[in-house]
Amino acid sequence: MRALVMGGNRYIGLCLVEELVRQGHEVTVMNSHAVPYPAGVRRLHGDRQQPGAIHDVLGPHRDEFDAVFDNTSYFPKDLEPMVELFTGRVQHLVFTSSVAVYRRSFVQPVQEDFRRHAPEDPDHRKSYGVGKVQCEDYLDDLHRRTGLPHTTLRVGHTFGPRSPLVARDPLFFRRMELGRPTLVPGDGFAALCLVHVADVARLMVSVLGNPKAVGSTYNVVGHEFASVLGVLEMIGRATGAKPDLVHVPLEVARRRNPPIVHWGEAIMGSTVYSIDKALSDLAWTPKFGIESGYADSYRWYANGGRELYEYDFSADDEVLSLLK
Ligand SMILES: NC(=O)c1ccc[n+]([C@@H]2O[C@H](COP(=O)([O-])OP(=O)(O)OC[C@H]3O[C@@H](n4cnc5c(N)ncnc54)[C@H](OP(=O)(O)O)[C@@H]3O)[C@@H](O)[C@H]2O)c1
Repeated sequence: MRALVMGGNRYIGLCLVEELVRQGHEVTVMNSHAVPYPAGVRRLHGDRQQPGAIHDVLGPHRDEFDAVFDNTSYFPKDLEPMVELFTGRVQHLVFTSSVAVYRRSFVQPVQEDFRRHAPEDPDHRKSYGVGKVQCEDYLDDLHRRTGLPHTTLRVGHTFGPRSPLVARDPLFFRRMELGRPTLVPGDGFAALCLVHVADVARLMVSVLGNPKAVGSTYNVVGHEFASVLGVLEMIGRATGAKPDLVHVPLEVARRRNPPIVHWGEAIMGSTVYSIDKALSDLAWTPKFGIESGYADSYRWYANGGRELYEYDFSADDEVLSLLK
């Protein structure tokens, strides 16, 4: 297929581009910064936040794609020009959403029909998830009214090589390599699901040409879940170091900004997502477990990734000083 990837120059998007190329698809990327792409990938330069940029950049190419992956929409206004350009022209519009759309649930694992945030929820702390809810509703409504062939993918906490943020895999690796303490909110017993970035990319490609995926929504996480403590121990095994875990009382952890760990579950309580629907509809199973995924991430980090980040432990030190 001829695929357009919005935002394909790092992390999930870049992995998706590589997977599409590996599977023989023809790929075009639109984003604002250049990086080395696999051979044959075409890049269109544009900042989609600039008014009119999507029409200007993609308009002349609107008949050149069979599938569009919109990986960089956060509000309906981001999707609107894509829908205007590609409705009736593409076989598939794949939207990257997030598990941040869900409300807290007493019942687990969370399935795709569980309650999401209200689209009009004004709480700014939820704006990322609420924006994704609005995007999902916008696409679902178009699907019902016009048959827009879209798929929504609710991606969970992603890990793996080339993290865009130092505070994910790289900072954990560095703390452990240096023998620095790793902070754990509370007892660390809260469970979380993670998904390796390559498994996200493989699932994204697997929806193409699958009629079951059209008009459907899928949770995208790995097949394992583990406690925060368990994940930290597995990160330690990847680095070859025994983590020096320091527990931080929850009432202290809850006030920290930046948070002690980026997994909200650590202070909000366990959340586990079901991937039964993806496993049943799609030709996809996750390749990576949590331990093998962090081992893969550490291999990349130890082979040149480490030097790409700056490490700042001052937030850790501040918390440690509060505990004295
Ligand atoms: N990472 C996670 O853990 C996670 C979890 C759940 C859902 N998601 C969702 O997955 C998607 C991708 O996440 P990610 O973490 O891989 O994203 P990311 O690292 O933030 O990458 C965003 C991509 O969008 C492009 N981009 C950003 N602003 C742009 C603009 N104004 N115009 C054109 N391109 C722009 C960037 O390229 P340029 O900088 O070159 O423009 C980059 O390729 C997002 O929709 C996110 O909500 C991510």
